[in-house]
Amino acid sequence: MISVSPVKPDFVAVIGNVDLREPLNDDVFAEIDAAFNRYGVLVFHGQPLTEDQQNGFANRFGPLGYPIAPFRPENVERLARKESADISNVDEHGRVLPESDPRVLITRANALWHTDSTFKRTPAKMSMLCAQSVVPEGGETEFADMRAAWDALPESRRRGLEGLIAEHDYFHSRMKVGLDPATLTPERRALLPPVPQVFIRTHPTNGRKSLYLASHIRRIYGMSEADGQSLVQELVEHATQRQFVYAHQWAVDDVVLWDNRCTMHRGRPHDPSIPRVMRRATAMDVGPSVPEK
Ligand SMILES: [Fe+2]
Repeated sequence: MISVSPVKPDFVAVIGNVDLREPLNDDVFAEIDAAFNRYGVLVFHGQPLTEDQQNGFANRFGPLGYPIAPFRPENVERLARKESADISNVDEHGRVLPESDPRVLITRANALWHTDSTFKRTPAKMSMLCAQSVVPEGGETEFADMRAAWDALPESRRRGLEGLIAEHDYFHSRMKVGLDPATLTPERRALLPPVPQVFIRTHPTNGRKSLYLASHIRRIYGMSEADGQSLVQELVEHATQRQFVYAHQWAVDDVVLWDNRCTMHRGRPHDPSIPRVMRRATAMDVGPSVPEK
């Protein structure tokens, strides 16, 4: 039996009594999966996973997603597998990236409240970070419970939000952190066209509803861009009040995984001259949140 120590009654649990380096039998994985569906964020300490072990564990949750990084130099990958996302501020030689490097955009964009891969037609279900180098101060990852945020809205407010559809666009969030629009060539644009996502999600395992928000939302269909943005801003402010947020302070070999269907997250600032190295694996959802016509 794994051990499950909740941080809050229904949000974030620390999981123990399991070695993620070993292939998990179905019973153990079912316990982890049940905790994942209930708590939304799971924390494991002292799990020095290789890239393949991490991807193998992530793959139990669904098909692995492939990161798309249109501003990463060609043929310069720190990691062995195409499925692994490099969430770090270092180059392939382990040197801290200068502020001028286009890869720094990824770190800057991660500082905005977001949900992973909502800019893809089929978005991410689960993301998992393994911490390899951590910073002594700052650099926490914060998670917001979007189910609790939904539950806390007045009934009359909730009624007006159900049924809305938002347009998510990777380049929208990148522009917010300084992407030069002149670098957005038609080829890059074509890599990731804007996609629709429901605004309110219902969790398939327990029926709980949640706000489905991300920095990638450009507009809400049926509203002016300005009205859509102010609605998104108001709801992000609501959902990220302290009572809905958990801040994870990283230690080396921590593994943290989260349910993108009902949480939002962001990386906190830290001294950019200190290496911070995380490796992410992502399992994709079963299909688009808005059915394809
Ligand atoms: Fe993220």
